[in-house]
Amino acid sequence: MRSAAARRCRVCGAEAQVYLRYARAAFCAKHFVEYIEGRVRRTMERYAMLRPGERVVVAVSGGKDSVTLAALLARILGGEAPERMLMLYMDLGIKGYSDKLREAVERLSGELGVKLMVVSLEELVGVASIYELARRARRATCSVCGTVKRYVMNAVAVEAGAVLATGHTLDDALAYIVKDFMYQDQERLSKWVPRTPAAPGAAPRIRPLIEVSERETLLYALMRGLPFVHEECPHRPRDSVEDATKDYLNRVEEAHPGTKISFLRRVVSRAAATGADEGGTPRTCTICGLVSRGDVCSFCRLTQRVLGEPMGPRVRRVVREKLASLGWL
Ligand code: AMP
Ligand code: FES
Ligand code: ZN
Ligand code: ZN
Repeated sequence: MRSAAARRCRVCGAEAQVYLRYARAAFCAKHFVEYIEGRVRRTMERYAMLRPGERVVVAVSGGKDSVTLAALLARILGGEAPERMLMLYMDLGIKGYSDKLREAVERLSGELGVKLMVVSLEELVGVASIYELARRARRATCSVCGTVKRYVMNAVAVEAGAVLATGHTLDDALAYIVKDFMYQDQERLSKWVPRTPAAPGAAPRIRPLIEVSERETLLYALMRGLPFVHEECPHRPRDSVEDATKDYLNRVEEAHPGTKISFLRRVVSRAAATGADEGGTPRTCTICGLVSRGDVCSFCRLTQRVLGEPMGPRVRRVVREKLASLGWL
């Protein structure tokens, strides 16, 4: 926002609230909101993220990014949003945190007039918190959390017959890309397409905010007065490689505005050119039927080991019941 005050909005000439260096443009609050909406609309069109009539499950954590995503998609889908869009919140039972997030997402659902499905870890696997599940698995909380969230998000979208949308931003995407590069994980690098195609047991996935920075999602959420939670998860590791990478890229961006977006576009067009769709034969879990790297998916393996029973089939059943009670099926 630095140096915005003295400038005028590029659209209406009112006093500017935001200055975007890479775009060399200043905006008032109203026109900043419109500018971001236009960008996301164009990104979605350019990469054909949603097809006419296709339905979408939007994973909303209650943080600034996914709250902004849900609000943007509701505007982009307009009158079709109540029919085509379903918000999903996963309550992981984190004390003093999950409840706040849930309240924010419930409020947002009311404000947008979009259905919300809330699923708790307790309902899904009979364990009260992700911390407890990780403790019993003798693994880091965030790593178990990642396995569970990825599994549940995909399961919901598959059962709903919908595309899955997540709130990953430009900064998230670049942090993962740099990490994949560091580990020389060519397979993952070649998968950086904005719409991951459907595969057996896997719903198509889209990341509509892939060209929007975290600073912009924060400003968007603030300027529209959207309900969201600022706090970070208490189990989140400090000083992760991702965070250090984000800081570094923001310093490069500061000195060379526009670097981040052109970096992303190069990776994406290369992934598209090398045919990301063909990478590896997709397999399905012999227990739950959803996508898997091996015979049994990581979620069924984890729950089998820790709880004595692979929980994939139970999760799918709970999700189907919820969708039916929401009138979605
Ligand atoms: P994270 O892995 O926490 O950075 O989250 C990445 C994306 O996953 C978010 O932008 C959301 O779309 C989704 N997500 C994360 N946590 C949750 C949650 N508890 N409920 C629903 N969606 C979530
Ligand atoms: Fe999952 Fe923190 S442990 S969000
Ligand atoms: Zn203006
Ligand atoms: Zn499975």
